[in-house]
Amino acid sequence: MDKRYDFDQIIERKGSNDMKHEFMPLIWHRDDLSPMWVADMDFASPDFILDALKKRLEHPILGYTSFPKGYWETIAKWIADHHSWQTQPDWYRFISGIVKGIGYVLNVFTKPGDKVIIQSPVYHPFHLVPEGNQLKVVNNPLRMNPDGRYEMDFEQLEECYDEQCKVFILCNPHNPGGRCWDYATLKRLADFCYSHHMVVISDEIHCDMAIFGHKHIPFAHVSQEAAEISITFGAPSKTFNIAGLVSSYAIVPNEQLRKKFFGWLDGNTISEGNIFSPIATMAAYEQGETWRRQMLAYVEENILAVEAFCERYMPQIRPIRPEASFLIWLDCRALGLDHDQLQQLFVDKARLALNDGEMFGPGGEGFMRMNVGSPRAYILQCLEQLKTAVESLEK
Ligand SMILES: Cc1ncc(COP(=O)(O)O)c(C=O)c1O
Repeated sequence: MDKRYDFDQIIERKGSNDMKHEFMPLIWHRDDLSPMWVADMDFASPDFILDALKKRLEHPILGYTSFPKGYWETIAKWIADHHSWQTQPDWYRFISGIVKGIGYVLNVFTKPGDKVIIQSPVYHPFHLVPEGNQLKVVNNPLRMNPDGRYEMDFEQLEECYDEQCKVFILCNPHNPGGRCWDYATLKRLADFCYSHHMVVISDEIHCDMAIFGHKHIPFAHVSQEAAEISITFGAPSKTFNIAGLVSSYAIVPNEQLRKKFFGWLDGNTISEGNIFSPIATMAAYEQGETWRRQMLAYVEENILAVEAFCERYMPQIRPIRPEASFLIWLDCRALGLDHDQLQQLFVDKARLALNDGEMFGPGGEGFMRMNVGSPRAYILQCLEQLKTAVESLEK
């Protein structure tokens, strides 16, 4: 019998230096909000990961370290088993976070003034990191179908492209839109980027959290062209709630790209790991399948609970059902509020801290991103706060 994990347990995070609470006064200038923002979960990190870390701490010396034996093979096996993508250990490098990884790629493959294509609304560092590197961001906005599903706009992509566009940053699965991109879309994107000599960064951090029967398809796996031009980023950090450990990796199938990118990473010693994160990654990928499945089943129930609550009590708020991960994109446009009024509703009236849709770029107006990686009782309490706030609008 598989062990049953308890995702209902409410754990006080205040006092643990967690970003969710500590950054609240900086962003919202108050500390009395219920956080549903930054994308980590309020569930205990799995016991088998904590045990592996504790075991290492029994040794009293925390000196310079190497990757544990079988480290890359373990990651490659996880990816082969879950996503049917066969990779080689020498295609991998450790990176200290995916956002930093984007910066590394841009440093190696672009020069100031070059352009980077992104697809808004999208995870905000996709524009912040290029801009921080004096690059121009070109937007290829996603289109939302009437059923709430986002699609890529290939006609606009043709129009916005010019020869200064050197890198395309893909979010697969997409945050905040929630899409697990399908094969045809990824293949078409690969053909376009290949024919225009662009490097594609495929950020696949949410890839192990496909839900409601959806399936993640690794970009690099859709065609030879995709494999040739791609740098894929992955990590166990979101799935196993260990983001604070920083344990990401880059996968590069193309030898030329590898020489250039890994040469730079190695030359700057950026690809050196730390003691704890490889231990946590191995524990996650060797022992984490039961926990992952139970966590996702719980998150699915949370999403259904949010959908049912909104439909019943505040139909002006339409949750876009995610195909992966624990983030729900709430379409609040039917409330008819402008940006400031929407913030007032969520922050001042409901006392909730969600990510404001506009931070994800054009197309995010009128949306809020809700993190439901939390015990259900907490989510229901937050929904009650929102309901009371929405009702006050009608008075
Ligand atoms: C799409 C995406 N990429 C990257 C990250 C952050 O990754 P890291 O902590 O490894 O920089 C997040 C976190 O929310 C994310 O949603």
